[in-house]
Amino acid sequence: MLYKLSRNTFIREYGPYTYIQNIRSGSDVMFKDAACFFKWLTRTPTDKDEILRKIKTEYDVSVSEIENDLNSLIGPLIAQGWILAGINGNEIDTQDKTDFSYAEMTGQSDEDVSIIAPSVYKTMPQCILGDYFHQHPTLFDLQLDITQACTERCIHCYVPEYAPLFLSYEAVRKVICEFREMGGLQISFSGGECMMHPEFDKMLRFAREQDLIVTVLSNLTLCDEAKAALLKECSAFVQVSLYSMNPKIHDGITQREGSWNKTKSAIERLHAADVPMRISCPTMRQNFDDYLDVLKYAEGLHISAQTDFIMMAKADHDKSNLDNRLSLEQTETLLKKIVNENIPAESEYFDPKHKDDLKSPEERAEEPLCGAGVDKLCLNANGNYYPCSGFQDYPVGNCFEQSLRNVWENSPRLKHIRGLRGKDIPKCIHCKNRNYCSMCLVRNFNETGDMLKVADHFCRVAELNREVVEAYHMNLRRKA
Ligand SMILES: C[S@@+](CC[C@H](N)C(=O)[O-])C[C@H]1O[C@@H](n2cnc3c(N)ncnc32)[C@H](O)[C@@H]1O
Ligand code: SF4
Ligand code: SF4
Repeated sequence: MLYKLSRNTFIREYGPYTYIQNIRSGSDVMFKDAACFFKWLTRTPTDKDEILRKIKTEYDVSVSEIENDLNSLIGPLIAQGWILAGINGNEIDTQDKTDFSYAEMTGQSDEDVSIIAPSVYKTMPQCILGDYFHQHPTLFDLQLDITQACTERCIHCYVPEYAPLFLSYEAVRKVICEFREMGGLQISFSGGECMMHPEFDKMLRFAREQDLIVTVLSNLTLCDEAKAALLKECSAFVQVSLYSMNPKIHDGITQREGSWNKTKSAIERLHAADVPMRISCPTMRQNFDDYLDVLKYAEGLHISAQTDFIMMAKADHDKSNLDNRLSLEQTETLLKKIVNENIPAESEYFDPKHKDDLKSPEERAEEPLCGAGVDKLCLNANGNYYPCSGFQDYPVGNCFEQSLRNVWENSPRLKHIRGLRGKDIPKCIHCKNRNYCSMCLVRNFNETGDMLKVADHFCRVAELNREVVEAYHMNLRRKA
């Protein structure tokens, strides 16, 4: 019997954990202390007897015992098609043709659909992994802003300037190789508008060849049939923003006439090509009432979608884009909808379930402040690495001057961020709204100029969030 990984299955070792993600089903599993079984499973068909022989060189137990353990570990994965088994290469290859399909999403719940997004930390394995990464910072996710240029000029956008800077293919290739060598798994192409890069196709193919899970963050205005075929070929996951079902409102936000038509047509093109997607609908003053129609549209196509109203200032600390941010009154109305009607939203802090897991001030004082520097890094089109989306004004290294490993392991700024604890923002430790607050370092940094100085707006939103969630629970108790 021969075994091989399905093309949709990705395996990585992180410390004692073997992490396995399947991008067709959008789910993942994790095993502890099982590397000796999984490391022989690759994209090349390997004979079971050979695998058993190799494991035997590491374990002084009988082959039949090893076989029992191997069967019980990989049996369920074979049943789900994550690992392929067959008597010859042909039999295996014919099984490896099935990719993600929207037709299969019919009848699944929203929750099933939303976990397709590889970067969403929803599933148990990723929670365990998250804890492990906090103890042992590990570069799992890399975002490449391959250009700052863009086809749109969105009124809320945090990108400070749309300079025609394009990272060279050679630079991107070098960074991808370094990332892969460090055990990285998820790579995102973003910008600006990444599809404006003349070597976008080559970069995407190279990332896929390096056995990485590819995500593309794009407004899709340049996504023609050829790009759709490329995304399919590279098994890419796409995140796109759609601001309204009213073309005038969407185009008003992007400041580009005809953009709604291009984006919506491309969404439908990608849907027909069975490219998995998530639609994001950032809500601001201009499209305050429109997210429900966008969510309904997405639901009709079985595409995962969510609203989001947390807008950060521009990466160069210019706050003019915040004029478009929802007023507190509008925020309260939206929060009531999100909480009471279970509207999918970007942040888990708006999930009423979080009400009860309150931590003591002592625990809060010692816990890490945020996930920056823990498992993700971004690369700007000018070659600077920075900690997370929007944090461009806090460079931590440069890809033309340093290796990725050197930046990740030795950057003083990354070390500083990793070392920050709850007690570094004393006003938050005793705050009654802490569990309802989506405070984050980059939002502080861009708006106040100091990552440890909280912008008042976020405190007011957290207060509103607590009030809305408490009213929700009071209502539930009254009904019970
Ligand atoms: C900067 S864009 C780059 C990728 C691509 N051009 C796009 O629009 O999807 C990435 C994401 O950031 C979101 N975004 C832009 N400005 C933002 C802001 N000020 N605060 C929060 N998210 C923002 C966009 O809506 C988009 O979903
Ligand atoms: S949000 Fe995306 S599409 Fe809009 S201007 Fe910014 S980079 Fe361009
Ligand atoms: S509401 Fe303000 S003070 Fe309270 S935890 Fe959030 S940022 Fe800190």
